[in-house]
Amino acid sequence: MIEATGLFKHYGPHEVLRDVCVTVAPGEVVAVIGPSGSGKSTLLRCLNGLAEITRGEITVAGTLLVRKGDPGQPDIQLHGPDLRALRAELGMVFQRYNLFPHMTAVGNVIEAPVHVRGVTVDEATEQAHQLLRRVGLTHRAQHYPQHLSGGEQQRVAIARALAMRPKAMLFDEATSALDPETVGEVLAVMRDLAADGMTMVVVTHEIGFARDAADRVVVMDEGSVVEEGPAKQVLSEPTNPRTQSFLRRVIQR
Ligand SMILES: Nc1ncnc2c1ncn2[C@@H]1O[C@H](COP(=O)(O)OP(=O)(O)OP(=O)(O)O)[C@@H](O)[C@H]1O
Ligand SMILES: [Mg+2]
Repeated sequence: MIEATGLFKHYGPHEVLRDVCVTVAPGEVVAVIGPSGSGKSTLLRCLNGLAEITRGEITVAGTLLVRKGDPGQPDIQLHGPDLRALRAELGMVFQRYNLFPHMTAVGNVIEAPVHVRGVTVDEATEQAHQLLRRVGLTHRAQHYPQHLSGGEQQRVAIARALAMRPKAMLFDEATSALDPETVGEVLAVMRDLAADGMTMVVVTHEIGFARDAADRVVVMDEGSVVEEGPAKQVLSEPTNPRTQSFLRRVIQR
């Protein structure tokens, strides 16, 4: 579903991604972990075309999003409507939910299908109610964000991303801004999606979630993938010293 090879990303002289390769098969759940500043968010932003890579190649759902710096091959970078169409294949959920404050939960969920996809309001509304049920918010459909808890708002954000019928979902620390008591309800929705066969890339500090919901774990440090493998193996018997020290620090916290 997602194939990224030889990714490099620079901000000025600062090398933020160094020869990163990530492959995600359909239905696979990949957790990305690593210290702050290691390039996890940057990697997700590159995968959905929000940030431009310096070099490398990314294919999403069979479409070449970008290819740069390959000798003998012309550089390619999707732009405009082509880029927007590809981005719609990937649902993105951020740390901050960024719901529209003047719209109800249903209003937030139908916004993109109606305005971007041209779905009728009736059809989008019916689908929104199904999605809100799926994330456990049937009783909150007509509430405005300010009357929802952080966990509820984040679940609306997940429903909103799902409303575009994405082929894969990218989560960037979706629970790290939440009160501890609402983290579990959001992780439960993410577990459900994973069990349902959604392809997911999940940047997370929730090692427990990575252990039991992810198929594979990718460990990043200083812009590189330092270790990757089956979740249980990487998290229980990491071989790279940098993975070992990162996991020790996270577990002690
Ligand atoms: N827009 C930008 N301009 C310049 N430098 C940036 C920009 N975005 C990120 N960086 C730098 O790139 C590096 C990787 O950042 P990134 O946000 O990807 O890390 P991260 O692994 O997601 O960290 P965290 O766990 O804190 O979210 C950091 O050194 C950061 O300062
Ligand atoms: Mg980040």
